[in-house]
Amino acid sequence: MTTFKALVVDRVGGTIRTRVQQLERTRLPAGEVTVAVAWSTLNHQDAQVMNGLGRRVPRYPHVPGCDLAGTVEDSRDPAWPPGTPVMLTGWSVGADRWGGLAQLARVEADWLMPMPDGLTPRQAMGIGTPGLTAMLAIEALEAHGVTPQRGEILVTGTPGGVGSMAVALLAALGYRVVAAIAQPASDRYVKLLGAVEAIDRARFARAPEHDLEAPRWAGCIDTAGGNSLARALAEMMPGGAAVAIGQSADKGLTTSTLPFIVRGVNLLGIHSDSCPHERRTAAWQRIVETLPAETLEAMLDEAVLEDLPILAGVMLEGRVSGRIVVDVNA
Ligand SMILES: NC(=O)c1ccc[n+]([C@@H]2O[C@H](COP(=O)([O-])OP(=O)(O)OC[C@H]3O[C@@H](n4cnc5c(N)ncnc54)[C@H](OP(=O)(O)O)[C@@H]3O)[C@@H](O)[C@H]2O)c1
Repeated sequence: MTTFKALVVDRVGGTIRTRVQQLERTRLPAGEVTVAVAWSTLNHQDAQVMNGLGRRVPRYPHVPGCDLAGTVEDSRDPAWPPGTPVMLTGWSVGADRWGGLAQLARVEADWLMPMPDGLTPRQAMGIGTPGLTAMLAIEALEAHGVTPQRGEILVTGTPGGVGSMAVALLAALGYRVVAAIAQPASDRYVKLLGAVEAIDRARFARAPEHDLEAPRWAGCIDTAGGNSLARALAEMMPGGAAVAIGQSADKGLTTSTLPFIVRGVNLLGIHSDSCPHERRTAAWQRIVETLPAETLEAMLDEAVLEDLPILAGVMLEGRVSGRIVVDVNA
């Protein structure tokens, strides 16, 4: 390929503009391995980058895409010979440097993973960073004594990517999952993924009335932050644990210390982007063994690069359920 198609974010005057362009191969950044991308995905961070929000990109023009799956096309590292099926999630790809929403990507060898056995590149991108993040959150809960026998798990940020993955993985592992949703239309979707109940997230928009509320949750996976996380903490059962993943509602957190010092609650953090290889590989293997293929399929919508400027806005308005996989060669 002497030229390749890519989704290019550019700053024209003061305005961020995103469109598909045909680029010369010589425009690829320096790096050890060139990957012929088969599938990528639209993540929350990509939607932000395409709208000039969130994390700053170092320079324009920029190619977004945190996640990619494909085949090694060219390599300076003998560990990754041409033809090897590979995938990549995180490592600041698509933010600090050009990412996977293109037919070609050039990356460092250390960031690649072999394609897990049992997954197609499309399925791997359906899972993507949100699936890895959700599994790491579940493993953090387990490491702090949360088991299906301990009680219900609250998941916020559904039907978004991380929330959907968390509901589906927890349910497949035997947990009773309660999903906080905003739209009545999401009720059927989260139950399809395995939630036993959907509750109105409006109650999590308000700060808790008391330092400790009636205990309900054995565990919580929260992607919203702010009052959502503060209320979940106040409602945790003794010995429960909550994982803070995102800030869809608010990056702040105002909480009493009483959940920690009276109920022994643990508040845990996850940063999947730079998760070390050994833990990352084990988490992916467990996702493959846990997530039923039909549940994953129920979360997926397909798109092509040309669809993404509009879909990014739709995602930021909270009108996307589940995951969008992107066929970069269509
Ligand atoms: N820590 C990590 O390693 C990591 C990894 C991946 C993502 N994240 C972060 O996790 C968050 C979610 O990512 P995602 O990929 O799931 O994004 P997403 O697909 O865009 O989903 C966002 C979800 O948040 C919900 N939401 C929006 N405003 C809310 C509010 N005020 N209160 C409660 N929920 C609200 C949305 O619901 P509606 O659609 O109904 O509005 C949607 O379900 C983001 O902040 C992202 O940056 C962190």
